[in-house]
Amino acid sequence: MRNAEIFEESKKYMPGGVNSPVRAFKDMEMNPPIIKRGEGPYVYDEEGKEYIDFVGAWGPMLLGHCDDDVVKAIKETSESAIAFGAPTELELKLSKHMCETLDNVEMIRMVNSGTEATMSAIKLARGYTGRDKILKFAGCYHGHFDGFLVSAGSGVLTEGIPGSKGVPQESIKNTLVAKFNDINSIREVFEAQGSHIAGVIIEPIAGNMGVIPAEKEFLEELRSLCDQYETLLIFDEVMTGFRVAYKGAQSLYNIKPDLVTYAKIMGGGLPCGAYGGRRDIMENLSPLGGVYQAGTMSGNPIVMAAGYATLRKLYYNPSYYEHLERIGHTLQRLLENVAEEKGIKIKINRCGAMMTLFFTESPQVKTYEDVMTCNTEIYKAFFKHMLSEGIYLPPSQFEALFLCVKHDEEHIGRFVKAFSKFELSS
Ligand SMILES: Cc1ncc(COP(=O)(O)O)c(C=O)c1O
Repeated sequence: MRNAEIFEESKKYMPGGVNSPVRAFKDMEMNPPIIKRGEGPYVYDEEGKEYIDFVGAWGPMLLGHCDDDVVKAIKETSESAIAFGAPTELELKLSKHMCETLDNVEMIRMVNSGTEATMSAIKLARGYTGRDKILKFAGCYHGHFDGFLVSAGSGVLTEGIPGSKGVPQESIKNTLVAKFNDINSIREVFEAQGSHIAGVIIEPIAGNMGVIPAEKEFLEELRSLCDQYETLLIFDEVMTGFRVAYKGAQSLYNIKPDLVTYAKIMGGGLPCGAYGGRRDIMENLSPLGGVYQAGTMSGNPIVMAAGYATLRKLYYNPSYYEHLERIGHTLQRLLENVAEEKGIKIKINRCGAMMTLFFTESPQVKTYEDVMTCNTEIYKAFFKHMLSEGIYLPPSQFEALFLCVKHDEEHIGRFVKAFSKFELSS
């Protein structure tokens, strides 16, 4: 079947034809290609068209598609261990590896997705502090759990909706929202409600309203307010962990969160998540403590094997991160040159292997308000043009594009060449 036929048929059985909203390309006003296969930096659709992939499954595929070592780990494990719902040595290996190679993770709990990691971390923060409220930032996305959908980024922002239906008033009441990179905004919230806030959750480098790194002073002030009000600071490194650096955003800022959440890369492309942090907090989890969180599939052997193979490969090859920084820098510089020559107003934000081209006249994109100055119509035209040129990008102005270790100068060159053919009126 061709792409369009498969998508039409899918719509009969899956809401919108997809299992996650942004995949439907609704805001791009076109049907998505149906992806059949991936290899290194490429994906191929059902009609055999090749794309250079800059989405990477929305982050996980930092090693590129079907990396030999990850495939080997999956194959070998699946011959003798698919699921037990019992302790395995594989989950020890991955947990130990993460605790030993990451900062501020003394103990860890495996779950099955980023959403599960963040919502469990919030529950743990509530259980530990005995408080109900959480503080998040407008434009940040932490998964689809009730309270996180207030002023959320990612698909919620792409669809231009204020939040989600089906979220109880109680959850909304307990979710406080502050402005990203705005020190006054966090001071105001803490002065008014600080002693009721269990935890603050933040993407230290936001990726879900496009890439916006937090300013260091902003994060430092947040850390100090959390200390002052005995609130837990939770870094959501689902996207940034192992991507902006092996040790994630926290290593770039040198700020110590109390809890950290991971997913995406840590599962090597399989469904996975984890949250970890200070031992005295983590020991509040059942069966040691009174915060109950469980999962039939948590620590699944095949997932653990894929994650372990991925993280070891990344950890023992620091040159991957040098490569990603080098090609990321080159891509950014060349795109900026082309935009200037063509008179296209863009601002590019990049942190290592994640980057966003904001189509805006604003000289900087540091806040949610700056993001809102973007021209989504131009992004749409750009996206369609790039896709037709075989460059697969996120179908939204408000998402990050991702590089993988298999991208090289040739792929970057093809990206830049395709962009140079983009006409604003096209
Ligand atoms: C920062 C962040 N947190 C949490 C999530 C939710 O992860 P998942 O989609 O695996 O539930 C995402 C997903 O994109 C994310 O980017």
